[in-house]
Amino acid sequence: MTPGSFITFEGPEGSGKTTQIALLRDFLASRGLEVVTTREPGGTAAGDRIRSVLLGNEMGSLEPETELFLMLAQRTEHLRKVILPAMNQGKTVICDRYFDSSMAYQGFARGIDPQKIREIHAQFLPGFLPQCTVLLQIAPDQGLERARHGGRKQHDRIESEDLAFHRRVYDGYNTLAQQEPERFVLVHAEGDPLQISERIIEGLTKRISIPDGDK
Ligand code: TYD
Repeated sequence: MTPGSFITFEGPEGSGKTTQIALLRDFLASRGLEVVTTREPGGTAAGDRIRSVLLGNEMGSLEPETELFLMLAQRTEHLRKVILPAMNQGKTVICDRYFDSSMAYQGFARGIDPQKIREIHAQFLPGFLPQCTVLLQIAPDQGLERARHGGRKQHDRIESEDLAFHRRVYDGYNTLAQQEPERFVLVHAEGDPLQISERIIEGLTKRISIPDGDK
């Protein structure tokens, strides 16, 4: 069996990943693919516990390296126990945040050398990267406004960082996308969700093979 594809969604807070992941999942399923959606931090029982340490406001501040190693710990569980097994069964995995979040948040925004994060990944997580990464772009102030006033949830420890932090995340993502244009699909996250979804699908089709609609 051909291994399935691995697609990740990235973007600043409030970029609408959840809506777009659901639309893409439905589209790919309509083309006959078996789709698994998952998220980070989380995706496993241990990962969900680690998530509550990472994002809980009661933790106060964590050292940047603590944050990084917790992100990598939950990713190790997630990759080995969920992502790789699903791909080996030929499924398409869509993950809400992955490696590039660690690069943008713990690297560019918290100040850990991104090159070192890349090296640790290569060493401990077999350098495993998605075939395609959708980067939803929204200006950091607008994204925060959406995330904080959407009435969706209480904002978490990382989301509560100041605007300067979220600007570094945003710039970091753009740098990453420039470094690997063949992996990244850049899509502006403002406007009609269905039109945004169409642009995502267009970019994806150039990077992974999607069965025809009339089969
Ligand atoms: P979540 O509630 O899933 O936020 P969003 O809806 O914006 O995706 O929280 C995930 C938070 O964790 C988000 O602020 C980004 C952060 N994060 C990192 O800092 N590094 C990482 O490696 C990952 C996976 C997430």
